[in-house]
Amino acid sequence: MQYSKTLQSLPPQYFSSLVHKVNKAKAEGKDVINLGQGNPDQPAPEKIVDELNRSSRNPASHKYSPFRGKDSFKKAIRTFYHHEYGVSLDLEKEIAILFGGKSGLIELPICFCNKGDLVLVPDPGYPDYLSGIAMASATPYFLPLMKERNYLPDYQSVPADISEKARLLFLNYPNNPTGACATMPFFEETASYCAKNGIIPVHDFAYGAIGFDGQKPPSFMQAGHAKDVGIEIYTMSKTFNMAGWRVGFAVGNSDVIEAINLLQDHMYVSIFPAIQDAASIALSECNGYAAELVNMYEDRRNTFMDACRQIGWHGNPPPGSFFVWMPVADGFSSEAFADLLLQQADVAVAPGSGFGAYGEGFVRIGLVESKERLLEAVNRIGKLGIFTDRGQKTFP
Ligand SMILES: Cc1ncc(COP(=O)(O)O)c(C=O)c1O
Repeated sequence: MQYSKTLQSLPPQYFSSLVHKVNKAKAEGKDVINLGQGNPDQPAPEKIVDELNRSSRNPASHKYSPFRGKDSFKKAIRTFYHHEYGVSLDLEKEIAILFGGKSGLIELPICFCNKGDLVLVPDPGYPDYLSGIAMASATPYFLPLMKERNYLPDYQSVPADISEKARLLFLNYPNNPTGACATMPFFEETASYCAKNGIIPVHDFAYGAIGFDGQKPPSFMQAGHAKDVGIEIYTMSKTFNMAGWRVGFAVGNSDVIEAINLLQDHMYVSIFPAIQDAASIALSECNGYAAELVNMYEDRRNTFMDACRQIGWHGNPPPGSFFVWMPVADGFSSEAFADLLLQQADVAVAPGSGFGAYGEGFVRIGLVESKERLLEAVNRIGKLGIFTDRGQKTFP
């Protein structure tokens, strides 16, 4: 059967090949410690599940949702953003409900790009940005994220004709895969660079709640003029361990929000009302939960980094997200290194090259297993004897 050109142009689903390798190893009876994925290992708080139960028993929840989502959910989002970030949002014009952050990320190029238009994307970056770009027949232009710049892109190095032609810019802090966090001056610079060049910045705030060492990651919406130019996408997946529930939202520039809503008016009738009610409870009544989650990930991060140091594997502790971006051992590509860890230590990690050319030389480790399993993973890797400077280097 002949697929459409659009379908044929989709990039390979990077995570599905990783999942395939892990499943194959598991089917062979191996006890794989899977640190290759970004799927939170903890359940959503009980209060949220209780509200889903309650609301799903209400016949009103069995009807179609209002097209653009329930007002009660949008009110909870407005209050959450005000409480967390001091950002005011217009209920009607500045909030769009999404089927998880991913759907918004895919919809945006479809809303704003024509064939051949450029979209600025971080490299390394979350692979799904490329999916929407392909669906819109647009073209990605990669912005390298380098350690020397704390994994923030350098707008000065983008050629003027590229900046002029670009329609969208994707950013993501706390960052997947590097764990880097953004600063307010960087967000201010982003807003002015985009205003100057007529680019719509889209800040993917998927790990917004997860900042370590007492630092709260800033929202792009806190930058002066951010709302004049762009939007931020927030998801319930990581902050409240609701990845399977498929619920998130976009906030910010009213023209961009209207475009998303318009496209969605033609595609869906918003989310199951009971999920919207449960998400409202999460935003309004589970504020303390994120702090517990941050403590858990921070503890895992420290445990993991300490154990790595003991075996002579040296990386930088991430300031946010639940990922650690580790260099590969000398002489390996990131894919070969990830394969080695899977085949010989039964530890799955994500090869950095899957996140872009600038990810080569690294692997991404997800802190989505218990401390005990993380220690066991490092122990198994240590036994391979691939790090030669066992315990000698000082930790950066
Ligand atoms: C950087 C980034 N953005 C977006 C998403 C998508 O999240 P959601 O579950 O809201 O679709 C993920 C999920 O892993 C992610 O890592």
